[in-house]
Amino acid sequence: MYLLFCLCLSLVGTYGWSDNRQRKFKDDFLFGAATSAYQVEGAWNLDGKTENVWDKYFHQHPEVITDGRNGDVASDSYHQYKRDVELLRELGVDFYRFSISWNRVLPTGFSNIINEKGVQYYDNLINELLKYNIQPMITLFHFDLPQTLQDLGGWANPLSIEWFEQYAHVVFNKYANKVKYWITINQPNDICIDGYENGKWPPAVDSKGIGAYICIKNVMIAHAKVYRLYEKEYKNKYKGSVGIALAVNWLEPLNNKTENVEITEQYREFMLGTFINPIWSKEGDFPRIVKDIIAKKSKEQGFTRSRLPTLNTEEIKLLKGSSDFLGINHYTTSLVSRSKTQHPSPSFNDDVGVQLSKRSEWKMAKSPWLASAPYGIYKVCIHINLKYDYPPIIITEHGWSTGPGLQDDDRANNLREYMKAILLALEDGTNLKGYTAWSLIDNVEWVAGTSERFGLYEVDFDSEEKTRTARLSAHVYKRLIHTRVVEDNWKPKSMKMKISDRKYKEPKVDL
Ligand code: BGC
Repeated sequence: MYLLFCLCLSLVGTYGWSDNRQRKFKDDFLFGAATSAYQVEGAWNLDGKTENVWDKYFHQHPEVITDGRNGDVASDSYHQYKRDVELLRELGVDFYRFSISWNRVLPTGFSNIINEKGVQYYDNLINELLKYNIQPMITLFHFDLPQTLQDLGGWANPLSIEWFEQYAHVVFNKYANKVKYWITINQPNDICIDGYENGKWPPAVDSKGIGAYICIKNVMIAHAKVYRLYEKEYKNKYKGSVGIALAVNWLEPLNNKTENVEITEQYREFMLGTFINPIWSKEGDFPRIVKDIIAKKSKEQGFTRSRLPTLNTEEIKLLKGSSDFLGINHYTTSLVSRSKTQHPSPSFNDDVGVQLSKRSEWKMAKSPWLASAPYGIYKVCIHINLKYDYPPIIITEHGWSTGPGLQDDDRANNLREYMKAILLALEDGTNLKGYTAWSLIDNVEWVAGTSERFGLYEVDFDSEEKTRTARLSAHVYKRLIHTRVVEDNWKPKSMKMKISDRKYKEPKVDL
């Protein structure tokens, strides 16, 4: 079966832009740009907003932030949202992906109290977008759990499923009549592995080999419950689409050694399959190989049951098909080989048993994990097409980090090269509906603070109004959206930005 799969991949997955054919994005392909609440809003304690896990973590541990800049003020989108919409109009995008801060809407974390000022903020933003025909794409959860809920165990507590459902219910009731694109949860792998395994991110729970798996089950069920909630109460009336955004970087073997090829396939199942399989595979559930490895190791380690909680028949059914589209956040490619170091046992690292590296010829971004390997996005698409039978996909994030400066040729080139790879993936049958640039503006890149800039627009964090200025890449993206083709040598005549004259389309929500 595996050999057959590899054979198909090598037949369909030949990557190359060797001919001179002009490739073009079709008119119904959607372009967007993204941000998330904690990273851009600021106003951390204004108008009734309360503390989330990032507020608490950064206030208590300012030393973990590379340049010391936290999200208290960030890019101040809470006050500058009209300017943000102006930028989106300049670019001519079809949609804006942003997230809602749970605490801004529900200050206790629970649905007993609704903060009307918080509700009003998102209503204003949505109305401003719709006024200019830009579709809101709302992420319900982008890493910022209310601290009150974290104090009760956060995503390690199975009640988090109900808390998330109640929160989603409030948000759907307020905005489902205006918003057609929904994303339940952003990157469950980061929430769980960085939050409950390796202590990198808040809540920084160090529960190796256990915490992340409990979290993964709860987050995945929470996602599915909210999908079903929309399906039952809102879908018929408002005809929106609900998906999940997964971190899907490409993983390939370091070399052709059988042990590296095999372990890469296994690692893909851990990193991609764990999240895609329950929703998109025919049989549902976590991948067999992931279940088997964790169960075997758990037994050897003296546990009476697997450290990976099981999904029962009802939960498998709940999860299967619980997404109208698959959101892919794709940034980079990593080379995988069998780990040479002994990891603590139990631990996630011990379960997966790999080490990662980059090819020396790959260009590196400002972020140490981010290398440019455009064919990776093509490979990811083909892998998903063949394994999960061509699901509808939206690239919900892709981007590049630099230092400050408007002449971001590296980001512009990265954008062009990835766009070419996306055109090839489309040509080879990928059911890809849209692309989202991360990010619209510079923001707080989590523990990197503002030392790694991802914005198409630069933000002057020292200025009172957090002035936004278009970078070269903003011009290149705007031009691409307008012409629908990738032009290698195009440069803007001036760096001054004007509102795009592109004609906006009706939302296409039948994903
Ligand atoms: C996250 C963003 C983050 C970006 C760049 C994505 O994984 O969703 O919040 O800023 O990567 O690191």
